[in-house]
Amino acid sequence: TMTRDRQSILSELPNFVNLDSYEIDRRIFWDKDLYALELERIFARCWNFIAHTSQIPEPGDFLTTVIGEDGVIVCRAEDGEVYAFLNSCTHRGNRVCFAEVGRARRFTCNFHGWSFGLDGSLASVSRPQLYDGNPTFDKAKLGLHQARVENYKGMYFATFDPDAPSLDEYLGDFRWYLDVILDNAEGGIEFIDGNIKSRLKCNWKFPAENFVGDAYHATWTHSSALIAMFGKAPTIHSDRSYQVNVNGHGWEFGLDFIGNAATLKSPEIVEYLREQEARFAERLGKVRSRMVGALSSANVFPNLSFLVGHNTFRTWNPRGPHETELHTWVYLNASAPETLKEHYRRGVMLTFSPAGLFEMDDGENFENCTSTNAGVVTRKQKLHFGMGIDSKIESESLKGNVYKSQLNEANQRAFYQRWADLMSSETWSDVPRR
Ligand code: FES
Ligand code: FE
Repeated sequence: TMTRDRQSILSELPNFVNLDSYEIDRRIFWDKDLYALELERIFARCWNFIAHTSQIPEPGDFLTTVIGEDGVIVCRAEDGEVYAFLNSCTHRGNRVCFAEVGRARRFTCNFHGWSFGLDGSLASVSRPQLYDGNPTFDKAKLGLHQARVENYKGMYFATFDPDAPSLDEYLGDFRWYLDVILDNAEGGIEFIDGNIKSRLKCNWKFPAENFVGDAYHATWTHSSALIAMFGKAPTIHSDRSYQVNVNGHGWEFGLDFIGNAATLKSPEIVEYLREQEARFAERLGKVRSRMVGALSSANVFPNLSFLVGHNTFRTWNPRGPHETELHTWVYLNASAPETLKEHYRRGVMLTFSPAGLFEMDDGENFENCTSTNAGVVTRKQKLHFGMGIDSKIESESLKGNVYKSQLNEANQRAFYQRWADLMSSETWSDVPRR
C-alpha cells in the first residue's frame, strides 16, 4: 500500500477521533502510517512503565524490556540508581543483552566486544589501541542511549523525550489513586518473581481501552466463566461505582472492597483483606480504602493496565498495528504474610494469565475487533463511544474528572482524547492537561 505523507495523516486526525460526535474511526486500529506515528508521538514521548524497584533490588540487577518497539535495558548501577538505556550497541547496533533478567557487572556486545557499564556508559572496547589518538572516538559520547528515569513509590517509568513533563506532572492526581495499590500498607508492594509474556493478534489500544474503562463487557463477555466459577454472574451496579480519569489515565471501580479479589477463589486473600480493612481506611481514608480489592480495572496512559484485588500489572506492547505482546506481573503487599504469594500467583493463573478464564474471553474479542476492521470498507466506518455522556459529577471525595457509574465510556473517551492530543502535538508544550 501507498504511504501517505505525514501532513495528510495529521490533517485527518480530527476525523479519526471525533468526540463531539462520540465517534472513532476504525482506521486507528489498522492503519500502518498511523501506527508509525504512534510509536514516535505516543511511545517515544510518554512515561512508560519499565520496572518495579523490587525486581532489581541490588546493584547489577537488570531486566530487559521495550518502550514501543525499542529494546531497553533497565539496570540498578553501583550508585544505587536505576538507569534505562537502549539495548543496542553504539558501534553497529547489535543487541547488547539477550537475557530477560539477571545480574551483571558489564554488558558486553557479542560482535566486536564493546563493553558497557551498569549505567550504560562505554567502559571499554576490544583492542583499544586501534583508536589511539583518534579524535572521533570519544568514549563519553559512545554510551548506550539513555532514557530519563523517574519513579513513583517504587514504580519506575522512562521516557526518551527530554521535553516531557516530570513523571509527577504526567501522572498528576492519578498518583492519589495509585496509592490505593502502592501505599495501602507500610512498605508498599513487591512484585512476585518472574513474569508471563504472551502474544495477541490485536491492536494495543483495544486492551488498553478495555482496562481504562470497560466494565460494560465484564458481565456479558465473562458471564459464562463467572457462572462456571460461582454458579452465577455477579451484577455490576451503576450506583456506588465511578469512573475517574486524569490526563488520559483512568480507573473504573465500585466501592465494594473485594469484588475482584473474590474471583481469585482464595479464602486466605479475602481474610487478609478483611483483617486489614480498618488499616487501609486509616492510611487511605474511607473512600479509597473501599477500592483496595474492588471490582475494577485501570490503565496508566498509554499501556500500563492493572487490576486491584487480582494484584496484577500488565503492559500491552505494540508489535506492529495488529499484534501486541502482553507482559504480566503479580504483586502483593510487602508486609503481607509470605504464604499469600502462592495464593496470588495461583489466583492470577486462574483468571488473568494467557490460560486464565477471563483472559481467554478478552483476547478473543480484542483479536476479532482487530481482524474484522481489516476490510477496506469496514475500516472506514465509525465506532460508537457515547455511553454516559451526561454522567460527569462534582465530587468532594474523589480527585480528577469524576463520573458516576463504572458502566460508562467516559474513560475510553478520555483515553482517545489523550491519544489524539499527543498524536496532533509537535511538542509536549502543545499537549493540553486534562
Ligand atoms: Fe557492538 Fe560492534 S556492534 S561491538
Ligand atoms: Fe475482560
